Amino acid sequence: MAQPLTIADLKKMAQRRVPKMFFDYADSGAWTESTYAANEADFRDIKLRQRVLVDMTNRTLATTMIGQKVSMPVALAPTGMTGMQHADGEMLAARAAEEFGVPFTLSTMSICSIEDVASVTTKPFWFQLYVMRDRGFVADLINRAKAARCSALVLTADLQILGQRHKDLRNGLSAPPKFTPKHIWQMATRPFWCMDMMKTKRRSFGNILGHAKGVTDLSSISTFTHEQFDPQLSWKDVAWIKEQWGGPLIIKGILDVEDAKQAVDTGADAIIVSNHGGRQLDGAPSSISMLPRIVDAIGDRLEVHLDGGIRSGQDVLKAVALGARGTYIGRPFLYGLGAMGKEGVTLALDIIRKEMDMTMALCGKRDIKDVDSSIIAGRQ
Ligand SMILES: Cc1cc2nc3c(=O)[nH]c(=O)nc-3n(C[C@H](O)[C@H](O)[C@H](O)COP(=O)(O)O)c2cc1C
Repeated sequence: MAQPLTIADLKKMAQRRVPKMFFDYADSGAWTESTYAANEADFRDIKLRQRVLVDMTNRTLATTMIGQKVSMPVALAPTGMTGMQHADGEMLAARAAEEFGVPFTLSTMSICSIEDVASVTTKPFWFQLYVMRDRGFVADLINRAKAARCSALVLTADLQILGQRHKDLRNGLSAPPKFTPKHIWQMATRPFWCMDMMKTKRRSFGNILGHAKGVTDLSSISTFTHEQFDPQLSWKDVAWIKEQWGGPLIIKGILDVEDAKQAVDTGADAIIVSNHGGRQLDGAPSSISMLPRIVDAIGDRLEVHLDGGIRSGQDVLKAVALGARGTYIGRPFLYGLGAMGKEGVTLALDIIRKEMDMTMALCGKRDIKDVDSSIIAGRQ
């Protein structure tokens, strides 16, 4: 295939390279996938305002997210089992992000562990926390993130129970993969993936196995989530987490104005307006459609970030125009990783950077910090 020019090109390449069960895991939403689809579609409805004959020289996308310098307002979202899109996926993506000057967020449910990622990076990365029933284990995870010098904790609030993704159930998703004829066939038809995977030892959940008491087998992700994730987690637990962590805290999964106001009261540094990429509550509105209301309600009392449906630099610019201080990409970097490893993650970031830079110029702006709702022409 010719050099990929878009995130959609990377997606096609990833589909040819990654075994079906893992490609589907990335490319799936809950139930009817209507929220997953709305995340992308609602970006397309927002139209940009074309401005002409404005000086376009010396443009910059550099800004900050929670006070930390970023080369553009795009972080890599936490994604579980990234090391199944490509061998050692989290380590490769973290290095690509570091070189690009954007934050990498490691999921609790990663394949490579906190320590693995710390061993290949020189700058701090961010750690995403899922809260398990065993608070001793949660405290241990937080301490490991501190020891690895993570510079932000991203607390995911929208997954106390796991949304049902039909594809994962039908595929019998697990890590490591099962050795049934169907799974063996899916892997055998992806030889490059297999060869890379044979070279690594990291094939199960690196932050959990050998760390959580009594957990010896994580073969079924849905059973594990059901048994270990804490369905009683509530706003009052945030204070405990904040105290254990003691550093910058980002609450992820806010989609409602009332919840955003509650998040302000916790003293968090930022929230991520997110519906988990349409993987939890199917039927919820898109992230981008909720962003302006949430920004209006909380003003600048904390930073508002957004994820869900970003597939281009134009999408990032629209989110920034509507009040997001920063954004995150999930599937776009996973497709890059699945398609071409570390180089593919860099390419995904570079595609988005170029699109954002050009779009900003054509909207008559030279500095991302000057981008506001004046660049929006309307909705269609
Ligand atoms: C394959 C996959 C795994 C994910 N795993 C996690 C996770 O472990 N923790 C988490 O907070 N969010 C997780 N998410 C949600 C992402 O952090 C993010 O909210 C979402 O991917 C954004 O939407 P996008 O993929 O359209 O960019 C996952 C998303 C995907 C696609």
